[in-house]
Amino acid sequence: MNKPKRYTITTALPYTNGPIHIGHLAGVYVPADIYARYLRLTGNDVAFIGGSDEHGVPITIKAKNEGVSPQDVVDKYHAIIKKSFEDFGITYDNYSRTTAPIHHETASEFFKTLNEKGEFIEETTEQLYDEDANQFLADRFVTGTCPKCGNEDAYGDQCENCGTSLNATDLINPKSALTGNVPTLKQTKHWFLPLDKHESFLKEWILEGHKKDWKPNVYGQCKSWIDDGLRPRAVTRDLDWGIPVPAEGGEGKVLYVWFDAPIGYISSTKEWAAREGKDWEPYWKDKDTKLVHFIGKDNIVFHCIIFPAMLKAEGSYILPDNVPANEFLNLEGNKLSTSKNWAVWLPEYLEDFPGQQDVLRYALNANAPETKDNDFTWKDFQARNNNELVAIFGNFINRVVVLTNKYYEGIVPEPAEFNEVDEETLASVKAYPDVIASSIERYRFREAGQELMNLARLGNKYLADAEPWKVIKEDEARTKTIMYVALQIASALATLSEPFLPFTSEKLKNILNITSSVLESSWNEVSTKKVLLPAGHQIGKAELLFSKIEDDTIQKQLDKLEASKKANEAANKTVEPQKETIAFDDFTKLDIRVGTILEAEKMPKTKKLLKLKVDTGIDTRTIVSGIAESFTAEEVIGKRVTVLVNLAPRALRGVESQGMILMTETPEGKLVFVNPDDASVGNGLQIS
Ligand code: 2FM
Ligand code: ZN
Repeated sequence: MNKPKRYTITTALPYTNGPIHIGHLAGVYVPADIYARYLRLTGNDVAFIGGSDEHGVPITIKAKNEGVSPQDVVDKYHAIIKKSFEDFGITYDNYSRTTAPIHHETASEFFKTLNEKGEFIEETTEQLYDEDANQFLADRFVTGTCPKCGNEDAYGDQCENCGTSLNATDLINPKSALTGNVPTLKQTKHWFLPLDKHESFLKEWILEGHKKDWKPNVYGQCKSWIDDGLRPRAVTRDLDWGIPVPAEGGEGKVLYVWFDAPIGYISSTKEWAAREGKDWEPYWKDKDTKLVHFIGKDNIVFHCIIFPAMLKAEGSYILPDNVPANEFLNLEGNKLSTSKNWAVWLPEYLEDFPGQQDVLRYALNANAPETKDNDFTWKDFQARNNNELVAIFGNFINRVVVLTNKYYEGIVPEPAEFNEVDEETLASVKAYPDVIASSIERYRFREAGQELMNLARLGNKYLADAEPWKVIKEDEARTKTIMYVALQIASALATLSEPFLPFTSEKLKNILNITSSVLESSWNEVSTKKVLLPAGHQIGKAELLFSKIEDDTIQKQLDKLEASKKANEAANKTVEPQKETIAFDDFTKLDIRVGTILEAEKMPKTKKLLKLKVDTGIDTRTIVSGIAESFTAEEVIGKRVTVLVNLAPRALRGVESQGMILMTETPEGKLVFVNPDDASVGNGLQIS
């Protein structure tokens, strides 16, 4: 076990333009929380820092779309996101927001320091401009083709497909996201951070210094950017939402969101320290502090190149020790997407699976996109729950607690002689803290989670092999030893599961009566303490830790996704343009009446046609209708329908059709009757 240290752990500040989904949780927040909890449990000094990213174009766009102010948007989603983190047990020491005064001050000061040190280039250049919207187009206000990978939906500051960080003027065929216009060019002054000036430092620090310890995906991206050659990046924008540029000539301009957001880690730390009566500076300035940024892969350039260049230019800050960025999580084979509602939103998950936060944390961690993009499927989620949490972890604990209560009224029995298997089992248990720790310290959280499950497997197998329920009939002393050993494993699980399954760990500690007033538990003691649950210790009653998730519960989630897919398809359908204008007299020529379908039969050798007998109030006539792909003949009989009765008859497959039924369609493309349920048959169309 390493010597205790000071850690500053940060997580990407989510944009407050919507709730957060499983992709965020799997990629950033669950691994970071496992790390922070583990470090605290092993006695380290941890500042686990988060907050909301409340500036930037995504917020402004959301506000415009909803017809509210950006402040309204961030207030709403900051509260929702903060609550989700609390609900899922993400144990921030501080969760702040970039609209907080302390952040505005900190970011302004940071900018001023760099400006005074001459670390920026001030330059008037031509930038993209939307004449109709009267606005410069930067970041997400403009899309176009990425010059690097050809993605046609790249943003003005970044291509999310290949991760390249872009200047808006780099885009091929740029288009305004506000009006769809092709932008013009207009001169404007901005402050640029000359990344090229920091190239040799970045080369040495990353390419030579972190080749071995940074994840290959992170190192690889950094290498490719540095090899391509770094260029100055504008750190100010012509926008009205953000932190005003604190410099002469900065009126009407704000700091670029990616300039202010990472400084948010510092302001959130300051907010925390002030509240706790601590000094924030060692967490950012003492070289013995280990700074770790948890992010998704689209944020790598900002955390490994731009923010470190800013910190270096400022001069008094430490640099990140590691940036364990994850790849992306997909959902049922498709990219997670907020706009397409292709996501599992955390507030909705909790409504559907109340109290089951640990199941999601566990399933997401078991499938985390650590080395490549990965897929979340509801079937896998169900299997992780039913086959691992219920069948292994839960089953083991349940048996131990039920049998201890049944045989010994819940009192840990005095063991007799340990046999070889007992000794080996107890020795294996003691090895687990280091095994799990070693995975966590290498940012291999999936592996760490599987090691935890292996400990539960060990317990399950030990009990299944030792069969105390049989042995009790002939050997009481042996049964006591078996149950004693099993209880030690249960206790180790209660402690070591905390980073992964925090709610379960707490429940289990309560069941085993491991509460600070009765019995301490600590990560390191699982290895070092001779006895975890001493003989004579009273435990509580059994409670189910996990419950089986049935197929129909999973099907409901799949149905929800299917509905999103259909709605998207419908939304993407092009709406037919309006037809040529007709005169009022033309319209009044249409004789549209209410009718009832009396008979229906499928037309032989056709896919679409039904032959109908319709009572129109004037007569009963035959109408051939192309609705057979949406209805069977049986289900339309008796339906009240709207009929165009004075259409010239025409022959369809040899049958004369004497009118037309009016139909529309559902978002999924199924035809539906324009259905005048309450009207009387024969009534004509009223014009009002
Ligand atoms: O990608 C995002 O959602 C950004 N809001 C992340 C910001 S991370 C940081 F630097 F604050
Ligand atoms: Zn690209």
